[in-house]
Amino acid sequence: MKYLIGIDIGTSGTKTALFDEFGVLCGSATVEYPLHQPQNGWAEQDPSDWWDACVKSLKEVLAKANIAAEDIAGIGFSGQMHGLVMLGEDGEVIRNSIIWCDGRTAKECDEITRLVGASRLIELTANPALTSFTAGNILWVKNNEPDNFKRCRHILLPKDYIRYKLTGNFGMEASDASGMNMLDINTRDWSKEVLGKLGIDASMLPEVKEACDVAGYITKEAALLTGLKEGTPVVYGGGDNMAAAIGTGVVDSGKAFITIGTSGVLFAHSDSVAVDLKGRVNTFCSAVPGAWAVFGCSLAAGLSFQWMRNNFFTQEMKEAKELGQNIYDQMTDSASKVPIGADRLIFLPYLMGERSPILDPNARGVFFGLSAIHTKYDMLRAVMEGVVYALRQSLDVLRELGVGFSEIYATGGGARSPLWRQMIADVFELPVTTIQNREGPALGAAIMAGVGTGLYPSVSEACKSIIKVNPSDVPILANSTVYADYYNLFKDLYPGMKDGFKTLSML
Ligand code: XUL
Repeated sequence: MKYLIGIDIGTSGTKTALFDEFGVLCGSATVEYPLHQPQNGWAEQDPSDWWDACVKSLKEVLAKANIAAEDIAGIGFSGQMHGLVMLGEDGEVIRNSIIWCDGRTAKECDEITRLVGASRLIELTANPALTSFTAGNILWVKNNEPDNFKRCRHILLPKDYIRYKLTGNFGMEASDASGMNMLDINTRDWSKEVLGKLGIDASMLPEVKEACDVAGYITKEAALLTGLKEGTPVVYGGGDNMAAAIGTGVVDSGKAFITIGTSGVLFAHSDSVAVDLKGRVNTFCSAVPGAWAVFGCSLAAGLSFQWMRNNFFTQEMKEAKELGQNIYDQMTDSASKVPIGADRLIFLPYLMGERSPILDPNARGVFFGLSAIHTKYDMLRAVMEGVVYALRQSLDVLRELGVGFSEIYATGGGARSPLWRQMIADVFELPVTTIQNREGPALGAAIMAGVGTGLYPSVSEACKSIIKVNPSDVPILANSTVYADYYNLFKDLYPGMKDGFKTLSML
């Protein structure tokens, strides 16, 4: 029997999962790390935390698995997208990574738009200049930390840094690279025009390959640290949403998935480049060679839930830990006892600003309609509903673009909650289907490793044999009718607050 490993470099932690060649989970370990917010609206992580978590989780999985390291056929990655990792001459990390939910680069985005031209940028890269996309982060360092910029010799994305640590090779692949505002979406290679206009030296960027290609082999040093065998093949892997697409079998046109992890994403596969000229949803290369993805991203989905947990459920969290229970299950259980609409309370989940569809780094979270009658349970329910309404807005944009699908697969932490799944089904008015194997991005990463090392003939064939679905949650008409009124009001709230958010950001 051969085995595959998928390593998912997430925002709350790194998960390493081991699968047999039939895609059956044989073991997994997650190691968490902090998110640093040096200022309101900023978000950074320390790449050495990712690396420590990768080493620890690999060691734990291998120690428990009781299999020979030589039976591991390959390793693949799923990585949080957009984060800027700057390395010096000797591969040393120069500064913390500015990650995907950081909103500090509004000025740099204006600079990119002015230098490249708004429509030319979309024509080449498929996306407008967006805060937290890597090009803006690079220019921010250039403008604000010139010494760090001068020292920088290599630019990587989060999972590419971990792959570099495991193999010694610098590399990138199209799915994640297309989230940098610098990749030509059609040729799946760097846009010389964009790099030239932004003054970014191409020699800092590795060659762009496809997600399933072999990128290198485990070095002796990494083998000693982790328990892997020296020489084990490592594939490039993909951005986390592209890996989740493979792990849920969303690899053909007409298929879509929703994920509620730290971010929330509504993702549709596409065999051609579909672009929203207004940038309300984003277009990227898929991890399936020669395909693309179009998706809307809400920046603080699970993050809003986690924020509730950390600030309003600390006692329950402590008790659950002592009793070995799951705090998230307890919280969603209490939210399920609150009626739809949380007794007229609406939450705008803009704790980190918002990307899709409002593109506003200045936006901030709001409880609208808060009354003395409300409890923290009503607030929790409102948070869960607000996250789903924000993602429903991306569904409206995808429909406007003609990207169609008639059911949605669900993955990520949110998909584990029956309440959140039913809410999605009711608000989207579509059946929501989960996959028997819940590992989503990590499974996608392992499948990429299997394709790259020849264990599977193609991504699509692998998905056909590995991905098995559960019965769907179907919309309940009576619920949908109530949610629709709240959703219509939700959509109207932000436009009325937009100017206020801007003023607030300048106080
Ligand atoms: C996608 C995005 C997020 C991160 C989260 O564009 O920014 O989904 O990839 O890890």
